[in-house]
Order: sequence, then structure tokens, then C-alpha cells
Amino acid sequence: MLIHGIHRTKPAKAVGVLLLLFFVWAWLSNVQGVRLTDDLVPGRQHADKTTKHAGKARARIGKVTVAANKLANDVVRRAIESHERHNARHGYVQFTAEHQAVSNLIEHDRLNRAKGAWTKPAYLLSVLVAELEKPEADRLEWLYWFDADTLVMNLETPLEAFLPPANHSALNEVDLLITTNWDGLNSGVFALRVSTWSVSLLSAILAYPIYENTRMQKDRFRDQSAFQYLLEDAKSPFAELPMKGKDRWVKVPMRWFNSLPVNNAFYKNGTWIFAKNMTKAMFDNGTTEVYEDGHGGKVNPWKVMQGDMIVHFAGSSNVRDSWMEPWVARAEQNLPEWNNATTKYLLREEAKEFWKKTEEQLVIDKAKSKVEEEQKRKALKEKQKQEKAEKEKKDKAEKERLEKLRIEKERKAEEEKKKKLAAAEKKKKDAENKDIQNHEKKLAKEKARDEKAAQRSAQREKEKAKTVATPTETAKHLITDAAKTSASETTQAPKSTAA
Ligand SMILES: *[C@@H]1O[C@H](CO)[C@@H](O)[C@H](O)[C@H]1NC(C)=O
Ligand SMILES: *[C@@H]1O[C@H](CO)[C@@H](O)[C@H](O)[C@H]1NC(C)=O
Ligand SMILES: *[C@@H]1O[C@H](CO)[C@@H](O)[C@H](O)[C@H]1NC(C)=O
Ligand SMILES: *[C@@H]1O[C@H](CO)[C@@H](O)[C@H](O)[C@H]1NC(C)=O
Ligand SMILES: *[C@@H]1O[C@H](CO)[C@@H](O)[C@H](O)[C@H]1NC(C)=O
Repeated sequence: MLIHGIHRTKPAKAVGVLLLLFFVWAWLSNVQGVRLTDDLVPGRQHADKTTKHAGKARARIGKVTVAANKLANDVVRRAIESHERHNARHGYVQFTAEHQAVSNLIEHDRLNRAKGAWTKPAYLLSVLVAELEKPEADRLEWLYWFDADTLVMNLETPLEAFLPPANHSALNEVDLLITTNWDGLNSGVFALRVSTWSVSLLSAILAYPIYENTRMQKDRFRDQSAFQYLLEDAKSPFAELPMKGKDRWVKVPMRWFNSLPVNNAFYKNGTWIFAKNMTKAMFDNGTTEVYEDGHGGKVNPWKVMQGDMIVHFAGSSNVRDSWMEPWVARAEQNLPEWNNATTKYLLREEAKEFWKKTEEQLVIDKAKSKVEEEQKRKALKEKQKQEKAEKEKKDKAEKERLEKLRIEKERKAEEEKKKKLAAAEKKKKDAENKDIQNHEKKLAKEKARDEKAAQRSAQREKEKAKTVATPTETAKHLITDAAKTSASETTQAPKSTAA
């Protein structure tokens, strides 16, 4: 028809050529687009065709999931198809991993559980990093993680409805939106900003089984326990940031994107609800009417309601198909009470209010943490100052002690020197005295010897002289006797006179 038209009239021919060129260009850009993303990102991805046909800009949101091992079945495939219908409606890019991608090094625990739980942060990290490697204008801005056991019940609700408003500076650093239930954080569905913080978080989660292996062996959950530890445990490096990480992630209402098909996970008697296959009586109607589980009729904030975007069969693994299949069939019916286009307006209002409050709280918390930081900084400075002063005081005391010791040592050395000198002096004097004494003794000895010699000499002289004066001994005696007689006569005479 077209070729025929070209031959008929000139203006028609020009229009025809233009149309042909347009189709060639459209086809080329389509191929180019797919190739670009396929080259950059591991795993399968489906760029939304509706978006391209409408000539819209690239979607700024991607969805990521892993459907490996037991999740690679028909019911899960149909659930993923519900996501693909949702993507087609809004222009989201789907990333689906179909193979387990981690080794026993990551998880080799006592229960020998499948490693799909750790393929999740590994695969999400690969998608995230591939986005960050693109020029900013070409990047996805947010990635929503959806476990493969999630089902889109309301195709009309856009994922954008929940994101923090972009023009609010206090919210610009919020990189993770996650929900909580009675078990704490639930990592089955979350929104993660394409940011470097997100890379750090996923790296830490992926490495958690290695650096927290002992802890991991005791954990109730797989990656979810890692999320819990990293985001909320006081010992976590992520919780030690000035605001304990609370400026980076926000707990959002469960029913935004993580509604559950049960009102209570346990019967009143403690039996786990997913210990059983689902019966008709348990198939929730998405109203305030609830299954009688012994707890009374109170509706919990996580129970799915008509118009909710997602229902998540968290924890139903052994009986998953019995629970999921009727829900998948319901979603495929496109029922107006579920696939409700009005809900998004209410959600937008709710989210606006939520982010307003969150922002206000964040501003307060940031200011508070700033003050606390300042106080901590001041306290630290004061402590350092005190420590410095104390050290100086100690150093001074030590210096003084050493100086005293040095003086004392010097004094002692001086004393010792004096003592030694005195001792030497005394020794010298003693030696001198001894010398003198010896000398004197010697002199005395000599004198005595001389005297003796003199005496002997004198004796000899005397004896010599005697020999010369009296020639005979008789004569000598005579002289002596005569002398004696004369003396006695003289004395006796007066005596007789007197008589
Ligand atoms: C942010 O943008 C929204 C929508 O464009 C607008 O309603 C709101 O007033 C803006 N807020 C600020 C703080 O600029
Ligand atoms: C608990 O209650 C449920 C529902 O009535 C029942 O099916 C289950 O057998 C009970 N379990 C125990 C341990 O009594
Ligand atoms: C649930 O149903 C399946 C299929 O009918 C069956 O094989 C399985 O044993 C059932 N599980 C329980 C816990 O009843
Ligand atoms: C759902 O609605 C039907 C029909 O009104 C009712 O029989 C059933 O009990 C309801 N299911 C639950 C779980 O409330
Ligand atoms: C859709 O949701 C709105 C708001 O909750 C509600 O008023 C309306 O009845 C719903 N439509 C259907 C068909 O259930």
C-alpha cells in the first residue's frame, strides 16, 4: 500500500520516504537502546516498549529481582509477569536474575540453605554499579527491589508516588525506603537510590556472611538479618554515623509496597500460619473482614487491602504455591476493586504528608545531632587539653625528680671524691709518718749503736789508762788497803776519846 502510494503522487512520495526514514531511525534507536543496557548490565532486562513508543524520556526507576532455584517456577513467572505489566504501564526497567550467583564461601551454614538470598545483594549491586557508571543524565535514579514472591495487585499505582520529593534538601540524602513488621525490617521489598551510599550498604550486606559468620549461623533470616544488623545494631558501622544512619534510610508504611496476605503470622495457639497450605477460608478479601485465627478481628497495618499495589508472600516458602496461585489468578482478572486508579491520588497525599513529617523530624534530628556532634567535639577537645596538661605536669614532675636525682648523685659523687681524697691524704700522711718514724727509729738505732760504740770505746780507753797507772796488782791492793786503814783510824779515834 505504501509503496504503491509513493509511485502515485509526489507529495505522497515525500511523506512515504520520511515515514520510511522514521521507521528505520526508530528501529535503530530501539536496537541501540537494548544493546547499550545489555552490554552494561549482567542478567536479563526488559526495557519497557510502551515508553519508547510514546517517545518518553528514559524511565528513572528500575525493578530488580532474583528468580533462581525454587523460585524459577510457573507461579513465580506469572507473578513476575504482573510486574512486567506494571512496568509497561509506567515505563520501568526490569532486571531479573535467574541464576544463583554466590558460592559456599558466602553461605555454607548448618542448614545448607540455598544461596539465592545472597544472590540478591550481589545482583542488585551489579545493577546499581552499572547505573552509576553511566553519565548522570542517563542513569536510573531509584531501584526498587522486589522479591520474586511479590505480586502487583494494582497496576495503576506508580512507584514514584512513594519517593521523597526531590526538591527537599533535607530528604536528598535519604537513600533507602524500607518497611518493618513484627520481625523487624523486611528486606523483601525496598527502594534504593542509585548512590554511592547504596553501593556501600550492599557491599556490606554481601560481605556480611564472611565477616559476621558466627552471627550469620545464628540468624533467623538471610540477607534480612544483615539489613537488620547493618541498619539498626548499635555495633554496626552504618549505625555509628552521626545520626546512627537515620538520615540515610526511612521506615515507610508497609502497605505502600509490602502488604501481606495474612493478618497474623501465627494462630492464637502459636502455630505458624504458613505451616499450612492456604484454604479458601484463608484467602483474604482485602477488606476489614479477616480470617478467624483466634486473635479477634483487629486488622493489622500490614494486611493487604483492596487497592494496595503489592502483596508479598514472605515466609510462605514451603506452601508458597498454594498461597500465591489464587492471588496470581485474582491479579490476572484485573478486578476494578483491586486495580483501582483512584488509590494513587490518596497515596500521593499520604506520601506528601509522610515526607513532610519525616523532613521536619529529620531537620530536628540533624540539628540535634549537629549540637551533639559539637558537644562531643568540644568534650573531646577539653579531654585532649586536660590530657595534655596532665602529661605536661607529669613530665615536669619527672623532670624535677630526675634533676633532684642528678643533684643528689653529683653531691654523693662529690662527697665520695672528698672522702677518697681525704683517705688518700691520710694514707699519704700515714706513709710519711711511718717514714719519719722509720727514719727516727733508724736514727735512734744509729744513735744507740753509736752510743754503744762510744761506750765500748770509752771502756777500752779507761782500761788502757788503768794499766798504765799501777804496774802490779799487789801494789794496787796495797794502796787500796792503806787507804782503807787510814780511814778507819781516823774515824775510830774520836770514838775512843769519848769512851
Ligand atoms: C517542591 O516541589 C513541589 C512540586 O513541584 C512543590 O509543590 C513544593 O512546593 C516544592 N517544595 C519546595 C520546598 O520547593
Ligand atoms: C492451632 O490452631 C490451628 C487453627 O485452629 C490448628 O489448625 C492447629 O492444629 C492448632 N495447633 C496446635 C498446636 O494446637
Ligand atoms: C500443600 O499442598 C501440596 C500440593 O497439594 C502438597 O504436596 C503439600 O504436602 C501440602 N503441604 C502441607 C504442609 O500441607
Ligand atoms: C471473603 O469473603 C467471602 C465472601 O463474603 C467470605 O466467605 C470469606 O470468609 C472471606 N474471607 C476472609 C478471609 O475473610
Ligand atoms: C477505588 O478506591 C477509592 C478510594 O479508596 C474508592 O472510593 C473506590 O470505591 C474504589 N473503587 C473500587 C471500584 O473499588
